[in-house]
Amino acid sequence: MKNYLSINSLIPSFNKILNVPGDKSLSIRWVLLASQAIGKSKAYNLLESDDVISAIVSMRKLGVEILKRKSCYEINGVGLSGFRHNNNVNLDAGNSGTFARLLCGALAGNITNVKVTGDSSLSKRDFSRVVKPLELFGINIKTNKNKLPITIKGSKYLRPIFYKEDKGSAQVKSSILLASLNTPGQTIVKSKISRNHTELMFKNCLKIPLKIKRSNGYEIIKVNGKTNYRGFNYNIPGDISSAAFFIALTILANKSRLKMKNINYNKSRIGIIEILKKMRAKIKISNIKNYKGEKVADISVTSSKNLIGINCPKSLNTKSIDEFLIIFLVCAKAKGISKFNGISELRQKESDRLKMAAKFLKSIGIKIDEKFDSLKIYGNPNLKIKKKVIIKNFLKDHRVFMMSCVAALTLGGNFKIYDKNSVDSSFPNFLNLLKKLGAKIDNTHTN
Ligand code: S3P
Repeated sequence: MKNYLSINSLIPSFNKILNVPGDKSLSIRWVLLASQAIGKSKAYNLLESDDVISAIVSMRKLGVEILKRKSCYEINGVGLSGFRHNNNVNLDAGNSGTFARLLCGALAGNITNVKVTGDSSLSKRDFSRVVKPLELFGINIKTNKNKLPITIKGSKYLRPIFYKEDKGSAQVKSSILLASLNTPGQTIVKSKISRNHTELMFKNCLKIPLKIKRSNGYEIIKVNGKTNYRGFNYNIPGDISSAAFFIALTILANKSRLKMKNINYNKSRIGIIEILKKMRAKIKISNIKNYKGEKVADISVTSSKNLIGINCPKSLNTKSIDEFLIIFLVCAKAKGISKFNGISELRQKESDRLKMAAKFLKSIGIKIDEKFDSLKIYGNPNLKIKKKVIIKNFLKDHRVFMMSCVAALTLGGNFKIYDKNSVDSSFPNFLNLLKKLGAKIDNTHTN
């Protein structure tokens, strides 16, 4: 199948302001939480990507009314344990691990069978991480050897749990928090620190009093369930994980500048900024504001010639979990060796991103040392690609696709990149925005 695009020239210098689409994590959480609120909720700048659309379509199948008026989405929530649907309804989570895993928790009080399926990438991913805690609540879950498809039957007699979450997975933590909403009594999660959007929405939108204490890299979160809450409106800020590709593009491009406004700047998501700044990338953060507990900010970037390698502190790993691929690309152009440890979670994403990164970097002539849990990148500030590079068989991982486009536009070579639709998971507008900055991309080879 001719489903590839080609990039054969570097992006010319640019100096622009760009609008980055809404944050995926926040969009999915808004859909799930607004669906279970009492009354109407509205969202502006909701991300219209396949992952979020999977969430909307699934909620509709559970009897939730979701409308779009102009650029505003409206949800008429059904309240806690209020889903109404046919027995064995099939919910297709598509490519979205976040939606699938959070959905499992949201179904805690739903006593009719639901089947959850996903695409071929999601069907390879581990669900035991959410099944284990959810079973403790009294939820009945049947899996296919800890993978999708799974069948879930919630319970009227849920019991609160104490659970220690050691992976630093916001998906696991959030799945438990969603289940706790339907459960009488106090659920306690002791969770290795990870993105805290769910907690912030609980507190600032649902007005559910959470008790949170930090100790030694963990957060102890206590929540009392069975508290119905009212609909809430949300203006979704831009997604830093999408902005990341444009940050790297600008750093690696020649004599360019870019500003992206109103980006979610949550402390638990900005590892990429901390890492790139340590590498001497020219990034400025301005106009920091608070929006419903979330920080938002403007990010300005300038091309950066004197990048240096980084020995990345492990404490930045969960804060950069979705950005490593593009960070690795910047390391390829930095002086010296970059070292990353404790990153085997990358093997659990839409593809094995550690393997993908190693394969890609080798193919463009960068020396690397890949271990199960670590990566060393021997940077080359003079790196120029002068050959044909073909990117295919990457399990349609959207972030592998976007990283490859940035490499092609900043390092040279003749790139043929397959599966362009992969980008629709998180950033359908990606190629258009690249073109707006002046990139020459030939996607006439797609059908
Ligand atoms: C997400 C959490 C992260 C991240 C994913 C989005 C979320 O996954 O990789 O893209 O919205 O909670 P883990 O929590 O499994 O690390």
